[in-house]
Amino acid sequence: MEQRQPFFYDITLRDGNQSLKKPWNTNEKEIIFNHLTELGIQGVEVGFAAASDMDYEACCRLAEISPDNIVISALARCVENDIRKAADSIKKAKKQRIHTFIAMSPFNMRYVLDKTPQEVRKQAIEAVGFAKSLMGKTGEVQFSVEHFGDCHENIDFVIDTLKDVVKAGASIVNLPNTVERTRPKKFIELVERVYNELPKDIIISVHNHNDLGMATATTVESYFSGAVQLECALNGLGERAGNTNLYEVAVVLHNSGVDVPLNLSKIYELALTISDMSNVKIYEKAPLIGPDALAHRSGIHQDGAVKTKDMEKGAYRPIHPSLIGRKDDEKLGFTSQSGKTAIYEIILEAGYPITLQEAQRIAPYAKEIAEKIGELSTKNIIDIYYKQVFNVQGVFKICNIEKIKDGNINLHFMYRDKEYDITVSGNGPVDACIKAIQKAGFNCELLHYEQQALNEELMGSGATAMSIMHFKAPNGQSIISRGRDESTVKANIKAIFNGLNIIESMK
Ligand code: KIV
Ligand code: ZN
Repeated sequence: MEQRQPFFYDITLRDGNQSLKKPWNTNEKEIIFNHLTELGIQGVEVGFAAASDMDYEACCRLAEISPDNIVISALARCVENDIRKAADSIKKAKKQRIHTFIAMSPFNMRYVLDKTPQEVRKQAIEAVGFAKSLMGKTGEVQFSVEHFGDCHENIDFVIDTLKDVVKAGASIVNLPNTVERTRPKKFIELVERVYNELPKDIIISVHNHNDLGMATATTVESYFSGAVQLECALNGLGERAGNTNLYEVAVVLHNSGVDVPLNLSKIYELALTISDMSNVKIYEKAPLIGPDALAHRSGIHQDGAVKTKDMEKGAYRPIHPSLIGRKDDEKLGFTSQSGKTAIYEIILEAGYPITLQEAQRIAPYAKEIAEKIGELSTKNIIDIYYKQVFNVQGVFKICNIEKIKDGNINLHFMYRDKEYDITVSGNGPVDACIKAIQKAGFNCELLHYEQQALNEELMGSGATAMSIMHFKAPNGQSIISRGRDESTVKANIKAIFNGLNIIESMK
């Protein structure tokens, strides 16, 4: 099958609008219409002109301001008055279309319309003929088989009617899954039947509602089965569980190598705007646009996400967030399922110094708390970091250090319940302190030592010095410890005692 470029036909302003608790007025519709124009939409159903004066007025206004390259369509039942109103409301648009519809499922014809199939067929053909007479040569007529998804039993009747409807002047045949009841494949089989039986210059369109959550799948697979016009709504707005979500369809087609004629980078911001304007919240887990759509909480996922963060394809995401203009990027949340990568990234992101080794050491403490309270906030993690990096509690406790005469230093500390009071001479306080600890009989082998200035704003008032030390642990591993204080000497001593307590906790 020849693959044609998809034609995105937006129904936010009609099907979406009719499902809102407070439908939009003309001004609001105009704002959304302008966003759709920036998105690069090909067709917009601007309203149901006969539904209310407000909707009629909005249709007129949007037709008036519409760019020449966008098809402007108004909905009408297969009723003369609706069709006249629709035609009248869009007369200022360059590309005009009347969209008329009638139900053809056996159930609806019998119980809702209370008409025989032959009556429905006659009404459809006459309505399309009338609409075409108003549209003339340049305008178009779209015909929809409402409840097409429920037309398995009478698909031959539907196809025969569609052939006549096309002869009467419809050039777009829309196949709605008005209520999604079964599997996508069942609907697509019907789409294929219509596609195979209608003339090839007729545009096949699909319009899928999302009652069972498969509208995106149904729409995408319908495209690959012959449908060219895809009726979608921003944020998936629409009756009940909504219409097909435009963003999802656009991204799936893009990921499938289809040339999607939309500015995808507008999606994220547009989604937030539509949520504000419709008062319909974007749910946490909404694909692509939900607050959680790019969040990783399991340690394995966090590791993969960080390793592939800057790549176009990510280990645990369907797209690079920038494709849809999303800047908040992949977010790591720390729960009992998370690991060192999240600690490392969250602390670095908050502007504090940390190594992966430290993150690994801190992670179990964070997990223990997360087991009790659930996901930790950045503030929770920073508190844990402070405690476990700069104030490591353990069996070693420093009591005092002072310079005494002849350049000697006295170190007073405790190990478990025992007090030590040791005087040594050393090459500066770090050397002296380590010698004192060794003299007391403890292992304390310094491998590396450096001092760094601190970002005062982040680390709290007065703390301007940070010492970083590497000690040799009994297992031969080098461990990192830090100390911070306004005095350089105190920062050093704190780093030594933090280091001793870290090593002790490894035993
Ligand atoms: O869901 C539907 O069947 C419709 C038609 C009016 C196209 O919205
Ligand atoms: Zn609909």
